[in-house]
Amino acid sequence: MESFKVLVVCTLLILFYFIPICNTLNSIDQGQSLKENETLVSEDGAFEAGFFNFGDSNRQYFGIWYKDISPRTIVWVANRDTPIENSSGVLNVTDGGNLVILAGTGPPIWSSNSTSRTAKKPFLQLLDTASLVVKDGRNSPQNLILWQSFDIPGDTFLPGMKLRANMASGNYTSLICWRDTQDPAMGLYAYRIDPHGYPQMVITKGGTLIYRVGSWNGNMLSGVPSESLYKTFNSSFELNDQEVSYGYEPFNKSIVSRYMVTTSGQIQRFILDQTKTWQLFFAGPVDQCDNYAFCGSNSNCDVSNSPQCDCLQGFAPKSQEKWSAQNWSGGCVRNVNLSCDSRDGFLKFSGMKIPDTSKSWYNRSMSLEDCKSFCLKNCSCTACANLDVRHSGSGCLLWFNDIVDVRKQTSGGQDLYIRVAASELDNNKGLSKKQLAGILVGCSLFIIVMVILGIVMHRKNKLKKSNMNQQISWKNHSIDKEKEDIDIPLYDLSTIAIATSHFSINKKLGEGGFGPVYKGTLTNGQEIAVKRLSHSSGQGTNEFINEVKLIANLQHRNLVKLLGCCIHGDERLLIYEFMPNRSLDCFIFDQAKRSLLHWDQRFQIIRGIARGLLYLHQDSRLRIIHRDLKTSNILLDQNMNSKISDFGLARTFGGDQVVGKTKRIVGTYGYISPEYAARGNFSVKSDVFSFGVIVLETISGHKNREYFDDNDLNLLGHAWRLWCEERPLELIDESVADSVAVAEPEVLRCIHIGLLCVQERPEDRPDMSAIVLMLNGEKPLARPREPAFYPHQFCSSTGNCAVNSANEISITLLDAR
Ligand SMILES: *[C@@H]1O[C@H](CO)[C@@H](O)[C@H](O)[C@H]1NC(C)=O
Ligand SMILES: *[C@@H]1O[C@H](CO)[C@@H](O)[C@H](O)[C@H]1NC(C)=O
Ligand SMILES: *[C@@H]1O[C@H](CO)[C@@H](O)[C@H](O)[C@H]1NC(C)=O
Ligand SMILES: *[C@@H]1O[C@H](CO)[C@@H](O)[C@H](O)[C@H]1NC(C)=O
Ligand SMILES: *[C@@H]1O[C@H](CO)[C@@H](O)[C@H](O)[C@H]1NC(C)=O
Ligand SMILES: *[C@@H]1O[C@H](CO)[C@@H](O)[C@H](O)[C@H]1NC(C)=O
Ligand SMILES: *[C@@H]1O[C@H](CO)[C@@H](O)[C@H](O)[C@H]1NC(C)=O
Ligand SMILES: *[C@@H]1O[C@H](CO)[C@@H](O)[C@H](O)[C@H]1NC(C)=O
Ligand SMILES: *[C@@H]1O[C@H](CO)[C@@H](O)[C@H](O)[C@H]1NC(C)=O
Ligand SMILES: *[C@@H]1O[C@H](CO)[C@@H](O)[C@H](O)[C@H]1NC(C)=O
Ligand SMILES: *[C@@H]1O[C@H](CO)[C@@H](O)[C@H](O)[C@H]1NC(C)=O
Repeated sequence: MESFKVLVVCTLLILFYFIPICNTLNSIDQGQSLKENETLVSEDGAFEAGFFNFGDSNRQYFGIWYKDISPRTIVWVANRDTPIENSSGVLNVTDGGNLVILAGTGPPIWSSNSTSRTAKKPFLQLLDTASLVVKDGRNSPQNLILWQSFDIPGDTFLPGMKLRANMASGNYTSLICWRDTQDPAMGLYAYRIDPHGYPQMVITKGGTLIYRVGSWNGNMLSGVPSESLYKTFNSSFELNDQEVSYGYEPFNKSIVSRYMVTTSGQIQRFILDQTKTWQLFFAGPVDQCDNYAFCGSNSNCDVSNSPQCDCLQGFAPKSQEKWSAQNWSGGCVRNVNLSCDSRDGFLKFSGMKIPDTSKSWYNRSMSLEDCKSFCLKNCSCTACANLDVRHSGSGCLLWFNDIVDVRKQTSGGQDLYIRVAASELDNNKGLSKKQLAGILVGCSLFIIVMVILGIVMHRKNKLKKSNMNQQISWKNHSIDKEKEDIDIPLYDLSTIAIATSHFSINKKLGEGGFGPVYKGTLTNGQEIAVKRLSHSSGQGTNEFINEVKLIANLQHRNLVKLLGCCIHGDERLLIYEFMPNRSLDCFIFDQAKRSLLHWDQRFQIIRGIARGLLYLHQDSRLRIIHRDLKTSNILLDQNMNSKISDFGLARTFGGDQVVGKTKRIVGTYGYISPEYAARGNFSVKSDVFSFGVIVLETISGHKNREYFDDNDLNLLGHAWRLWCEERPLELIDESVADSVAVAEPEVLRCIHIGLLCVQERPEDRPDMSAIVLMLNGEKPLARPREPAFYPHQFCSSTGNCAVNSANEISITLLDAR
């Protein structure tokens, strides 16, 4: 079999070499030309340039693509706006070194405009970097470059390429997206450097700024704080009086990667994996807070808050009415005008994406102190920050007038200093009601805890250690909050006991994977959910607090927020925000309530889970594998936004590595992947499996454990069977059928994604970043293979009809828990 394959490949290769359907060349000289079926190949064989068509369309283009990657990935197109409507295209290198594309007689349909009077022996070559270059003098030592395609990028940014902007003329090069995946004509979105003020990378739509990828702060671009990105790629941001440029290269030269602006205005970075498939490495914008000026001016956007927009401290909504109606466009204005002298001061905000720098001013050598005093000298100066955050900071960046497009970063943000009047520096004055309430709650908690601590200490010093180490603090809008690390409040057991009426059975919300959950109401009226952890992990107090802190630092709007914890002897309690709409299973599996969830809401719920899970897998500082994802762990807030709960607990109680093997199976029958059930192997892909089950359950309103037809098929099998029989829409819950009618493609996409997630082999399942793109319709979907736990009888392409009874395996192993 294997040798047969080799034989076929060899024969094909020989055919390609000896039959002149595809002539490949290394370079062409002046006066020579390339036409259909003739290509230019880079010396290392990685790239190929020539004429091509999309599918069976007539439109012919000249472009560059990866030679050995299928499907063909085009990285550059010459005549992107002027396709040839037949196959008559010819590329010529003229005597002057100009590159022209001709179609029949008449003027060229495209020209590089690189005619040089001095060119003696110009020739065209495709470099290993994928740059198409016209050089002069094949034998001359300099190999003078007359023209290169890297200077007029298409939609793809390749290693070694530079985006540039000229400080004097304002000229710039930009990546411009395609109009459509099959049409390389210039679309609306562009990715470029904005050279005004302190230069920043931006995405524009029809010329209007929509997303700031940000400026270079020494470590990273301020809008893309992804650590793994800068560990993998060496970015170069060079700035002098004439020009600013940005480029990147992977540190490991064997990594093949590309970076592009998509037809919908996203930037996406890909890395080629061993199977020669592109894996998404990064995509932005990431969330709503990335939308330019989402919250209006002088405000802060924070995805972990609800609502996400809040005025910066010292500012209040310009129109309270609009702000309350969640129309943020009006932004915020100062509570108190600046006095415009040295009495003004600065409030420090940590972990921020710095504001729009297009109207900023900078100086590389000033210290932060000089920077602040310089700012105070100009009445319109409103904020400052270090230019370079490395080595405890250097340089000075100043902003004037309104502060626009500030957000709280989930990681890697920097310090920003906002200028306010002296009276605003005093914390107690001019605080909004919300802040005041926060502080009051904080203070009363603090006092209660201190009093109780005092009593405990007074009674005896028996409790030897621990208490002194336990930090007691509370979350408020503290301006000097220690970067990123949130200290979690420790609640006293009596407080929680009172809040839950002594863990009354009437207050019990349910039984989660790690113990019962109770509803509680604190004395200030705040509603909470209390999880009483049943099996002690045998951890010490400090160890437990550290774990809980890690969980508390995972903040995303699709994750349930951990408010604090309580430790008392062996008792360990986690206090969460309360979710008024309970969990997803209470809706989709409930005869009465299922019709309340329309398709749009179900789709939003699925997308929310996907985003939350992506954050856990990849965007948070820790890589968290949930391991017990199920519909009862998907909670719904008052607006029916989905939030994942119980994350991080498997890590705390299971003992964990990123891809691990464990004897203790944490998971639930029906949601658990075959490799985890059978061998205890868990990975992000076992979560993807559970996610797929949730998607199919949400669409169908049936539990995976139910059986269908007379075939003993579970939901996965049922869905697969309908898919194979080309009637997938029959899977849909009848009670939402009406709302589905208008969204059929979306529903089909979801079913398709669900099936991709529940495939038998973990490596066949997409990862969450791919799933998020697929849900947005921004990534093509592969063909699913048959799902796990599926009796191989239908659609069998392999002829293997052995019945897989893995269902039972998961039961027995679960008993081992
Ligand atoms: C283009 O190249 C072909 C083949 O070398 C030649 O016949 C033709 O005259 C050239 N056209 C121009 C405009 O240079
Ligand atoms: C290019 O190859 C295709 C398929 O082999 C063939 O039909 C076509 O005529 C060729 N074109 C030229 C200009 O040789
Ligand atoms: C091919 O299309 C071009 C315009 O795209 C036209 O000028 C040329 O005459 C056409 N040639 C043939 C053979 O139809
Ligand atoms: C060459 O010049 C023409 C006419 O000025 C212009 O339309 C075209 O875009 C230029 N080509 C390139 C590759 O810049
Ligand atoms: C920059 O702009 C000027 C005038 O607008 C133009 O003459 C010049 O060719 C441009 N330079 C580049 C490198 O595009
Ligand atoms: C990173 O890029 C810069 C400039 O392009 C280069 O000087 C430096 O050596 C590179 N660093 C590594 C580790 O490759
Ligand atoms: C570079 O990447 C290749 C393939 O991913 C890997 O085999 C190699 O070990 C890496 N080299 C270094 C220095 O990390
Ligand atoms: C928000 O308010 C602005 C005026 O401040 C108005 O133009 C806009 O239409 C409002 N947006 C919505 C969604 O109501
Ligand atoms: C603050 O300044 C603005 C304009 O600079 C002015 O219209 C407003 O009256 C001032 N407010 C106070 C309270 O002085
Ligand atoms: C930057 O600051 C340094 C030190 O304060 C000063 O010497 C230099 O002139 C400043 N540069 C500019 C362009 O203002
Ligand atoms: C304050 O800074 C702005 C913006 O750089 C500038 O236009 C203005 O002239 C400065 N005012 C003073 C008094 O220096």
